[in-house]
Formats: sequence, structure tokens, C-alpha cells
Amino acid sequence: MTPELSSLLREPRHVLLDTPTPLQRLRRFEAKLERPGIYAKRDDLMPIALGGNKLRSLEYWLGDALRKKTDILLVGGGASSNLCRLTAAAASLVGLDCLVLHNALDTPENRQASFLNRLFGAELRFLGPVDESQRNAALAAAAAELARQGRTPIIVGDPVLGAMGYVRAAFELHEQSQREEAPIKHVFLAGSMGPTEAGFIFGNALLGHPFQIHLVSVEYEQAELAGYIRRIYEGLQERTGLDVAALHDAPLHYHMGHLGDGWGAPTPASEAAILSFARTEGILIEHVYTAKTCACFLERLADGGIASGEPACVLHTGGTAALFSQFGLFRTLT
Ligand SMILES: Cc1ncc(COP(=O)(O)O)c(C=O)c1O
Repeated sequence: MTPELSSLLREPRHVLLDTPTPLQRLRRFEAKLERPGIYAKRDDLMPIALGGNKLRSLEYWLGDALRKKTDILLVGGGASSNLCRLTAAAASLVGLDCLVLHNALDTPENRQASFLNRLFGAELRFLGPVDESQRNAALAAAAAELARQGRTPIIVGDPVLGAMGYVRAAFELHEQSQREEAPIKHVFLAGSMGPTEAGFIFGNALLGHPFQIHLVSVEYEQAELAGYIRRIYEGLQERTGLDVAALHDAPLHYHMGHLGDGWGAPTPASEAAILSFARTEGILIEHVYTAKTCACFLERLADGGIASGEPACVLHTGGTAALFSQFGLFRTLT
């Protein structure tokens, strides 16, 4: 029997998503690949700001912020950052101010990529092409300045708290999967900074490991990715006090073959996956996170890496808004 999640995660959650996201069977891919049991978990279909994985994390970040009586959320990211967009949207939804710091130059293209943040009423600052540690320092300095002015700021993005959203997602997918003809055995998701992955792995462990989890690296070499995941997983163990299996017992598979030239750099397979998802299932995926994940998913289904009798699901983590500024990345579309 599935443990009751609300009794396991004690952190305050501000509900943004009160219904599960769809678990969609991809029947045209099933016909094309001549095998049943191909699914997408549609975390791109959420009711707020075009959806995406960060909304699940924001339920916990907002829960924390509201408990601390925060009046302004601070967030940092690139000009087309999904985290920034969804934080700006969530702030407007609960009536908080939002300050977005972009590690990007103030150019017309970057203003365009960031315009949804303005639409949601956030204040924007462009820091120039600084690295992540400089951006974090700028966030800390901005928070300190706001506190001196009598505000109660909070910097959004605690990875352990954010991971709780995906502990919940593992439970949600498990429940949906149980209602299918044959339960899902394999889940593919993007490997990046770790909160989504570690949360899902932790949830899977609480459930007794129903899923084989496939991480498709889109950003780091394996050791670095594994390190992020380990730190967040251990953080979850510590913060929840739950006695779950150690990370090295998790049914985890790292897929490193789609990283190409790194974060955001398309590969022929990722571009083909974007076209294939659009033209086979009418589903939009984008270059940075979901295209490489879906490329690996399709490859493993086609090459028999995932046996035909074993249902498999790709987690669509969203990011669709970014597609609108990615036209220049396509090589085969003119
Ligand atoms: C659309 C999308 N998918 C996946 C990820 C990766 O999530 P994580 O940072 O939890 O590894 C991100 C991160 O920004 C994202 O925006």
C-alpha cells in the first residue's frame, strides 16, 4: 500500500496545482515503434504561466515564504529562465513583489526573452554575463539591501525544499500508473541541477522503487550530476527525517550520450526529437531540457534498450515558453 504523503512531508505547501497533470498515452509513437506502453507525464500542462517543473517546487518555496511573512521574492536566472518566469507568475498570484536578476546582458533579445516576467509585474535587473556564483552574490546583496529598507525578502531556489515537489510527483505518477493496463516501469527525465531528479528518486524510494529512473544529462558530466543529486537526496533524508533506502540502492540509469556540446546546444538527435514530438503527437518540446531527454527516450524505445513489454514514460518538465526564442537553433527548419 502506498504511504500517505501528506503525513510524510511536513513542510508547508502552498497549493498551486490541485489536480494531477495528465498522464498521456502516446499512441502514434506506439504505432510507429510497434510497441505498447509509451507515455508522457505532462508537467508542461499546468494552469499557471505555461507550466513546468518549477511550479511543483514553488508550492514548497511559497509555503516557506508565506510562513516567514515574506513580502518580496528574489530569483536569478538567464533571460529565458523557466524558474524566473514561474516565480514571477507565482508571486503575482499570491500578491507578493518579485525581483528578477538576470545573468545576461541588457539587450533587446534578452528583454524579449524575459518579457513574461515584466508581464507578471516583476522588476528586472540585468547583471551582464556573470557566472552563477556572481549571480548568487548579487542576489544576496539585493536581499540585504531590501532588508535594510524594512522589506522581508526571500531568495527562491532552496534545492532541498524544491525537491519536495517531485517527491509528490513520484507519488502522483505512481497512482496514475496503477490505473493503466500495465504499470509504468521506466521513467525518463532531464538530468540538470538535481532538485527534480533527487525529489523523484526520493519519492520512488518511499514507494518501494516501482520505477527504473533514467536520467538524461543535459548539463553536466556524470560525476558532477551525481554529486548534485546526492547532496539533495541526503538533504531530503535529513530534512524529512524519513528512513528511506540509501541513494546507491536506487534503480538509477545515467544516460550521458545526448549532452553533445553541453547545456542548450542542440544535437541532431535533439532537433529530430523536437520535430518528431511535434509531428507525431502534437507536443511541443524545447532545445535545452526536454529535447535531449525525449531524444534519449525515443532512442531507447527504438533500439530495444527498454524491452517491449515494459511501459515507459517521459517526464515533460515544461520550458515550452523558451521555444519561441529558439528558432535560430534549428538547423533543418528555415
Ligand atoms: C523545463 C525544465 N526542465 C528540467 C529542468 C531541470 O530541473 P532541475 O534543475 O531540477 O534539474 C529545468 C531547470 O530549470 C527546466 O526549466
